[in-house]
Parts: sequence; structure tokens; C-alpha cells
Amino acid sequence: MRMSCAEHLAKEPTVALLTPLLCVQDVGILEYRAPSLAAELLSAAYRGNRDTAAVLDVACGTGLVSSELHNMGFRNFFGVDGSHAMLDIAKRKGLYKELKQCMLGMEPLPVQAGSFDAVVTVGALSAGNVPVAVVKELWQVAKPGGYVCITTRGDVDNLKYRTELENTFDSMVQDALWVQVDVREVEQWERAVSNKEAEHIPGVVYLYRKSSD
Ligand SMILES: C[S@@+](CC[C@H](N)C(=O)[O-])C[C@H]1O[C@@H](n2cnc3c(N)ncnc32)[C@H](O)[C@@H]1O
Repeated sequence: MRMSCAEHLAKEPTVALLTPLLCVQDVGILEYRAPSLAAELLSAAYRGNRDTAAVLDVACGTGLVSSELHNMGFRNFFGVDGSHAMLDIAKRKGLYKELKQCMLGMEPLPVQAGSFDAVVTVGALSAGNVPVAVVKELWQVAKPGGYVCITTRGDVDNLKYRTELENTFDSMVQDALWVQVDVREVEQWERAVSNKEAEHIPGVVYLYRKSSD
């Protein structure tokens, strides 16, 4: 059974200190491709000025998503994560203008509403991590016309969460809060950690654009 980062975070401090090590190892061992896949989808759709675009990297971890976006021309990054240890590693990358600690779902997202051209949350919206209700906060902090890019896993352990996530996305479309720009389903998302699965599990990247006021 996969142990989520949030579960690591909830453990005693010594275990929480190991969280970044485990998550950093995940990149190689799990063939973790979500940051590059999400960055590619956002970058392909983004038409604005990349030098000035304010990008909020939510559950930024060690900063992999912003690094990918930096390679694609984006320059202006703000990060939030629940783990001080992850934030310390992200800070050392020197990419972020500001980094803030926040346990999503327990505390409000500590940034101003309507202030980001792009909001990205990769590898954190899944069962046992960030609750689905946080999607509304991601939408809230995007500018009108701004993008929200989200990933989730497609494995059986995450099926219920994914359905709840997609129902939330759909109801926000129906309420005209945003429109769907793109969705990319990926069969070989990352290496499976459970013997219930094939060698790799699937995953998905969603891209939405907030409606203008
Ligand atoms: C798999 S890592 C992904 C990190 C980064 N987005 C990436 O793709 O490389 C998940 C991250 O989510 C953070 N996280 C999990 N649950 C969280 C919560 N409820 N609030 C804030 N951060 C959380 C963890 O600390 C960890 O940095």
C-alpha cells in the first residue's frame, strides 16, 4: 500500500524529516513524470508573457514543477507546501520569489485571491493527500482568465478520489467558473508500488481556464 506524503507529514517529526528524502527518491524509483507532463500541457496552452506571468506552485515539494516551467520560459514562481523540509530544498533551487508553509485542507491557501496567471498542483491531489475541496481555493487564487493545472493518479487506490475530483471539476464548469482547456490521460504515469497493478499506473493532467469576471 502506497504511503502518501501527507501521511509522512502527519507522523512524528523525525519521520516528517524523512519525507523529502522519500519524495526525492520517488522521482527516480517511481519514474515520476508528472512535473514534466503538467508543465508541457500548461506551456502548450499558455499565450501570455512568460517573463511576467505569476505562477503559483501548490504542494511544490522540492520544486520540480517550477524547474520544468523555468525551462519553458516562465520566471515568476511562488510556492506553497505543508512540509518545512521540502520547502528548504525548494528554497535552495533559488527559483521562487516566495515560499510559504501551509497544510492545505486544514488552513486556507496563504495567498491573495485573483492574483496568479497560472496555478499548478502536481502529485498532491490524490487520496490521503490534499482534499478535493481545495480545488475551489486553487480556482479562487487564479486571475480571471488564468490557468489551473492539476494532476491525479489513475490507479485503483485513487479511483474514488479521482471520481470526486472530476465531479467537482464538472460542477465548476456547469457553474461557469471555468472552462476545460485540455486533459491528457497517460498510461505510464509512474511505476506501480502495489502488486494489485500492472508495472506502471496511469495518471491524468487537467487544464482549466478561469472565466473572466
Ligand atoms: C509527491 S510530492 C509532489 C511535489 C511536487 N509538486 C512535484 O510534483 O514534484 C507531494 C507534495 O505534497 C505535499 N503535501 C501533501 N499533502 C499536503 C497538504 N495537505 N498540504 C500541503 N502540502 C501537502 C507534500 O509535502 C509534498 O511536497
